[in-house]
Amino acid sequence: MSKINGSFINYSTPQRGSLSSQSKIIAVGGGKGGVGKSFISSNIAIFLANMGYKVVLVDLDLGAANAHTTLGEGLLKVGISDFLNGRINNLDEIAIATYQQNLRLISDSHADIDVANINLDQVSRLMSALYNLQADYLVLDLSAGTHSTTVDFFLMAQHHLVVFTPEPSSIENAYRFMKTSFFRKVKRYERQLGLEQALQDIMSQKDELQIRQPADLISALLKREPDRGQMLVQKLNSLQFNIILNQTRIHKDIDVGYSVQSVANKFFGIPARFIGHLDYDNAVWQSLRKRKPLLVEYPHSRLYTQILNISKSIAYSNRYKAVI
Ligand SMILES: Nc1ncnc2c1ncn2[C@@H]1O[C@H](COP(=O)(O)OP(=O)(O)O)[C@@H](O)[C@H]1O
Ligand SMILES: [Mg+2]
Repeated sequence: MSKINGSFINYSTPQRGSLSSQSKIIAVGGGKGGVGKSFISSNIAIFLANMGYKVVLVDLDLGAANAHTTLGEGLLKVGISDFLNGRINNLDEIAIATYQQNLRLISDSHADIDVANINLDQVSRLMSALYNLQADYLVLDLSAGTHSTTVDFFLMAQHHLVVFTPEPSSIENAYRFMKTSFFRKVKRYERQLGLEQALQDIMSQKDELQIRQPADLISALLKREPDRGQMLVQKLNSLQFNIILNQTRIHKDIDVGYSVQSVANKFFGIPARFIGHLDYDNAVWQSLRKRKPLLVEYPHSRLYTQILNISKSIAYSNRYKAVI
C-alpha cells in the first residue's frame, strides 16, 4: 500500500516469475528538469541491453515524454495514456521494440496526460502492471519536480538514481527530491508499524524538538519508540540514493559529487552514495541531432566509458531488495 495525496492506493503483489522476483527496477529522478535524466536513463538502458539483459525503458515524464528522441526512435503510435484510459489492457502491447536488441520502450505519444492529473486507480494499475512485466531490468525515466506520483514511482525501484549538475539550483533540487522521497517512505510505513500517533506528536512539536532534517526526525522517534522506531530504520535501509553528477566541465566539478554525498549523509541523515560523474560533451547534442543514441554513435568518447562504469556498478550491485 502506498499513499498518494493523502489517499491510499493498492497495487497487486507481483506474480511469480515476473520482474519483481528478480527485483531490478532502476529509477532515475533528481528534482530538476534539463539535468540529463532522460539522457542517462536511455544510455544505461542501452548498456544493460548490450550486456544481454532484457530491458524495458519506461518514460514516466508523462506529458513531456522524450526518451524516444534520445533513443533515436520516432513517436510511438501507442503509449501509456492508452493503457491508463483502458484502451489497452496489457502493458506488453505498448512495450515497443526499438532499434536496440533486447531493449523495449514504453512511452507516450499523445501528451494528453500529466503526472499531476492521473488518478490513484490509474497509478496503482500502472504500478502493478510494471511490477509484472517480463524483463530483467526496468529503467524508469522520471519527470522533474517532487509530485507525489513521481516520488512513488521513484520508491518502486531497488536502484534509486538521483541526477544533478554542478549548478546550485540543481543541487538544491536534488536535496529536496531526496528529502521528499525519504519522508514519503516514512509515511508509507507509519501506519503499518503503528507509528502514526508518535510521528504526528513529534511533528506537532517540530520547532521545540528542532526537527529540520530526516536525521532529527529519526533520532526523536528512536527516543520515543525505540523498538518500532528501529523497525522503521530497517525498512528505510533499502532506500539508498545513488547520486550521479552530470555535465562536469572542469576537474574540480567532481568535488561537488563528494560534497553532496557528505552533506546528505552527515547533515541531512540521508543515505547517499556518489556513484559517478559524466562530463559535459558536445557529442550529446550532436548524437541527438543525428537521432542516434550517443553510445551507438560515439563509442570512443570518454562519456561512453563513464556511462559504462555506472551501468556496471548497478548491474553488479547486490542491492536487489524488494521494497514494498
Ligand atoms: N553530459 C552531457 N553533456 C552535454 N549535454 C548533455 C549532457 N547530459 C544531458 N545533456 C543535454 O541536456 C539536455 C537535457 O537533458 P535531458 O536528458 O533531456 O534532461 P532531463 O530528462 O533531466 O530533463 C539535453 O539537451 C541533453 O542533450
Ligand atoms: Mg527527461
